[in-house]
Amino acid sequence: MRVLGIETSCDETGVAIYDSEAGLLAHALHSQVDLHAEYGGVVPELASRDHVQKTLPLIREVMDRAGCQVEDVNGIAYTAGPGLLGALLVGAGVGRNLAYAWNVPAVAVHHMEGHLLAPLLEPNPPVFPFVALLVSGGHTQLVAVQGIGRYELLGQSLDDAAGEAFDKTAKLLGLGYPGGPALSRLAEQGDPHRFKFPRPMTDRPGLDFSFSGLKTFALTTMNTIGDGVQDKADVACAFEIAVVETLVIKCRRALQQTGMHTLLIAGGVSANRRLRERLDAMAIEEKSSVHYPRLEFCTDNGAMIAFAGCQRLLAGEQHALAFGARARWPMESLHAIG
Ligand code: KG4
Ligand code: ZN
Repeated sequence: MRVLGIETSCDETGVAIYDSEAGLLAHALHSQVDLHAEYGGVVPELASRDHVQKTLPLIREVMDRAGCQVEDVNGIAYTAGPGLLGALLVGAGVGRNLAYAWNVPAVAVHHMEGHLLAPLLEPNPPVFPFVALLVSGGHTQLVAVQGIGRYELLGQSLDDAAGEAFDKTAKLLGLGYPGGPALSRLAEQGDPHRFKFPRPMTDRPGLDFSFSGLKTFALTTMNTIGDGVQDKADVACAFEIAVVETLVIKCRRALQQTGMHTLLIAGGVSANRRLRERLDAMAIEEKSSVHYPRLEFCTDNGAMIAFAGCQRLLAGEQHALAFGARARWPMESLHAIG
């Protein structure tokens, strides 16, 4: 089965074609970073308008690159939530209507399920069951995964998501939008021993997170020191280490609690170099394996949506002509397949 995937939940337009036999045939991404940069964050209306302009040309480009004709596509998958409603409706509208015109089934994909399944596109994919840490700009969740659609939420952030904390702290440091990768680059020049930030909620049992205090800690620290590049780098470094160590402590706990030995990390923050290094080290100690998406599929992309949609279409799932999008959509409410 050959599936066209469309992702428009936030500030990137992503399109891909995944073939259940041959794997990923082609993918393309248009990032809106330049569009939103001058506002210091995503402007939802501008995001929707840009998706309107970019989605169809990107689909044409990906079809060309994959050498695909309309008749070769057997199904269409579009992100239906969670995300920005107007942005989601663009991809959902294009996807559902193309499926109608081409007379193929369409399936609405959950954005976080897309992230969660992205590491399955890599060689040596993880085998169920496993623990998944989803760390994006909107979510920080630890999930016990028994199979596709069989998700048990073990813990989540009670306030800011990890990526959101990175972005807000980056803004405090004057690094602009999107701040996560910039903060991480600055942190590399920082002195890891100058400041020690707290590891929130690690001194009590449980698998929930809280990251908003770290941003305040960064602000109060900045107020007591200078604002030279080295000062900022030292704060960035202490902040990044605190987030990473907190995530690693909770991942270790989730593996021990579930008795599982496979960990999967996905979502934008899974691109973070320090996080990957520390999780690799922890996994060796826990005699476990860790799986990541390739770097370009950590952040939003069409490939993960095409892949997730293909699995659901193969299982016989498809959606009626009426389509919708959901700004909020609990992943635990998805149907199990297989
Ligand atoms: O998954 P994603 O592309 O979009 C959402 O679904 O939210 O994640 C974007 C988030 C942003 O908060 C961004 O700052 C963060 O991922 N991010 C990073 C890194 N690369 C992206 N955070 C820390 N270190 C990175 N290298
Ligand atoms: Zn995402």
